Amino acid sequence: MLSFSHNFHLLIKDHKLLDCNGPQYIANAVADLFPKHRQDICILDVAAGTGLVGIELQKLGFCNIESLEPNKNMIAIAKRKDVYRKYFEENIPETGNTKIGKDAYDVVVCRGGFGGGALPVNSLSEMLRVTKPGGYVAINTNPKHFDVVPMYVNTIVPLMKNLEESGQWKKVKEENQNNYIAGATGIILVFQKTTQHI
Ligand SMILES: C[S@@+](CC[C@H](N)C(=O)[O-])C[C@H]1O[C@@H](n2cnc3c(N)ncnc32)[C@H](O)[C@@H]1O
Repeated sequence: MLSFSHNFHLLIKDHKLLDCNGPQYIANAVADLFPKHRQDICILDVAAGTGLVGIELQKLGFCNIESLEPNKNMIAIAKRKDVYRKYFEENIPETGNTKIGKDAYDVVVCRGGFGGGALPVNSLSEMLRVTKPGGYVAINTNPKHFDVVPMYVNTIVPLMKNLEESGQWKKVKEENQNNYIAGATGIILVFQKTTQHI
């Protein structure tokens, strides 16, 4: 069973007392990619937590959103918001894939999944695998994590570059944001999956 302090932390996060603007920023970045027909766009929210990103996407007219999140307590909170069409209650493993089929989504979003080393480095490849050719992977995080979380140092940025140099995706956006969370600067990275991806 999770402790009182853990659940309290979940609720604080959910009620935005941490002054967290990342969910809004990443939803806006997705909206910029799709000015029209947003109801037709299939989105996977990776490390979806309590649904903060889903809510912001829904406000902008996206309604075809699915969640990948391993934590039952987070899922229970998200379910009350009625924002996700489907829940994959699983981790992205360090090696191997999730049970999601390849080329399934127009957009895969991930906000905060790399904080504290939650997601393995390999998540980038998994996010790319489940994205349709021509679709997008949008990541929003505090970029300091790439320099200080031991498993990401000298691994995650080189993998991003490697996926680009090997023609699997192309970076189409990199933008810093003020006050991503509690005053810290954030970054939005958007990659487009190439159409010749195997
Ligand atoms: C900081 S929270 C971000 C939640 C949400 N995206 C948001 O913007 O509020 C990080 C989430 O990553 C999830 N997580 C941790 N390891 C994971 C993994 N290997 N695969 C998928 N999700 C994971 C945690 O359960 C947690 O909900």
